[in-house]
Amino acid sequence: MDETAILHVDGQSFELPIVTGTEGERAVDISSLRASTGLITLDDGYGNTGSCASQITFIDGESGILRYRGVPIEDLAARSSFIETAELLIFGELPDPEERDVFRQLLTENSALHRDMRKHFDGFPADAHPMAILSAMINALQAYDLPEIHITDNIGFRRAAAALLAKTRTIAAASYKSHIGQPIAYPRYDLPYAENFLHMMFSVPYRDYEPTPEVAHALNMFLVLHADHEQNCSTSTVRMVASGGANLFASVSAGVNALWGPRHGGANMAVLDMLEHIHRDDIPVSRYIDQAKDRSSSVRLMGFGHRVYRSFDPRAQILKEAAHRLLESMHIKDPLLDIAQQVEESALADDYFRERKLYPNVDFYSGIILRAIGIPTDMFTVMFAIGRTPGWIAHWKEVHDNAGQKIHRPRQLYVGEPLTQWLPPAQR
Ligand code: CMC
Repeated sequence: MDETAILHVDGQSFELPIVTGTEGERAVDISSLRASTGLITLDDGYGNTGSCASQITFIDGESGILRYRGVPIEDLAARSSFIETAELLIFGELPDPEERDVFRQLLTENSALHRDMRKHFDGFPADAHPMAILSAMINALQAYDLPEIHITDNIGFRRAAAALLAKTRTIAAASYKSHIGQPIAYPRYDLPYAENFLHMMFSVPYRDYEPTPEVAHALNMFLVLHADHEQNCSTSTVRMVASGGANLFASVSAGVNALWGPRHGGANMAVLDMLEHIHRDDIPVSRYIDQAKDRSSSVRLMGFGHRVYRSFDPRAQILKEAAHRLLESMHIKDPLLDIAQQVEESALADDYFRERKLYPNVDFYSGIILRAIGIPTDMFTVMFAIGRTPGWIAHWKEVHDNAGQKIHRPRQLYVGEPLTQWLPPAQR
């Protein structure tokens, strides 16, 4: 028998269907609520609202489970390349060797930017934030890839997805080169995704940069771990923009802007700033933790807490181990790693964080890895954006392919002034 929830309002009862997901998650379907009762639901921040049904990523926040298309994140982080993971997310299954080669070729063919796009980099001030450049340039791609805007068939979509993945990486590295006043490095056609990015970031005309296998592996893992996270702030933004019918590039550009904030992707920069601040000013960790607990201060423990994870963030655990391995292989002793561990231990032993179920999230250890690789702090959120691009593309496609897709248009509870008379200026 189908389950229902009963709502009692004004002496009347209304039945609302309960729908169940493939992992047993249950949701009350309120889509007929307003029509039958005149009521809407109110859920500031959407903590209790499922905005869609999706086949892409599963999270069980209570048990610390994350799966892309059913595949556990631990397996992907240990065994898959970023591009294989992207194919899994975007096309729904792990590619066979032939599909993998064909997609790789597409990425290679689409990795260079249109020559005229290079002029845009000169238009930004030298100290422009790389996230501003990234979102603007992704948006500009639609002007240079016009045939891809109306992606009506699978071949067109595959090409657009490959172009966006490859060009996002090229734009990110080019924005860094422009910022430091070096010539933009062209993508190399013989390198895998992560190695190619590092080449474009760090090669100079007189010397090619060659990452160690450990560095390339760590970056690949970082990207895999960031590739999707269901209905987070930026992905919901992409879906919302897509629901209005906007093209892939416009939707993903909006996602980049949503990611920028310090409560979302910007947290990885904020974590490193926090650790550097504690180190530079020699602040006792316990004092910093006290500040983060003080509700009258604006300080939060960056890299801690998550809307969905209420036990642990599996990505943080993988990254913590990876940070240790990478630093060891590079013979780096980073005091910030020690501070991060002290912060983690102190917070996890503290009732404030325990009661609120606040644990390290994906951003807590990722900055240590990026710093060891040589990525400057103001590029951290751009790195997150490169990693999240497959997820954004997959979600855009899910919205695009949904024949019954409605435009995302939430309602509100108006709490402003009642009907107010317009007065001429002299009487106000
Ligand atoms: N430090 C101190 N207190 C915190 C923190 C923190 N990092 N996070 C949450 N709290 C407290 C908060 O003050 C509130 O306390 P009270 O119940 O006394 O009012 C309680 O915990 C619940 O917090 P919330 O803000 O209502 O929780 P949320 O689910 O709306 O926010 C969050 C989730 C990630 C925005 C928040 O935990 C936060 O701001 N964390 C720091 C920023 C961060 O690391 N963001 C990255 C998130 S993971 C990657 C991503 O999504 O991009």
